[in-house]
Amino acid sequence: MPAGSNSSRQVKLLMVCLGNICRSPTAHGVMEKLIKDKGLEGSIQVDSAGTSTYHIGERPDSRSVAAAAKRGYDLTTFRARQVSPADFQEFDYILAMDRQNLRELRKDCPGAAHGKLSLLLDYIDNEHDAVPDPYYSGPHGFELVLDLVEAACNELLEQVCQEHFTAHGAS
Ligand code: 4NP
Repeated sequence: MPAGSNSSRQVKLLMVCLGNICRSPTAHGVMEKLIKDKGLEGSIQVDSAGTSTYHIGERPDSRSVAAAAKRGYDLTTFRARQVSPADFQEFDYILAMDRQNLRELRKDCPGAAHGKLSLLLDYIDNEHDAVPDPYYSGPHGFELVLDLVEAACNELLEQVCQEHFTAHGAS
């Protein structure tokens, strides 16, 4: 637990895209490293999932793995899964990579959990409101995903810490 925390349970973050092989595993890996670098593994957990069934059980796309590795993020242990009904109970923040996936999440989400849903890029001011799907793009698409995800994850982590682990925001 970080200094000043009186939280008795971990804060759980879920990154969501369509296939769970490009954008959300990238966000998962970036956030996992930020959490580790800040020594917050005991307090904050991150996972990722897809709204589709397309790639269940698969490893992240090799282009995402390679681009992430160049910046020091390890995506190799992740396997794609679909968002499940239990996720809406279990996770505190459910972060969609784009508006279509946010709409899909809203359809399945129980009313009481709607406040957990947002776009990851709501956490930064940027010309992009969504993380563009890199699946059919060239290498620049995977670099843009990393640029946007790194910026947003830094801000998200900052906000989670303020909300849950500072004296005035402790849960
Ligand atoms: P992701 O990218 O949603 O960021 O994992 C995609 C992966 C696969 C497909 C589309 C987007 N697909 O159509 O198979």
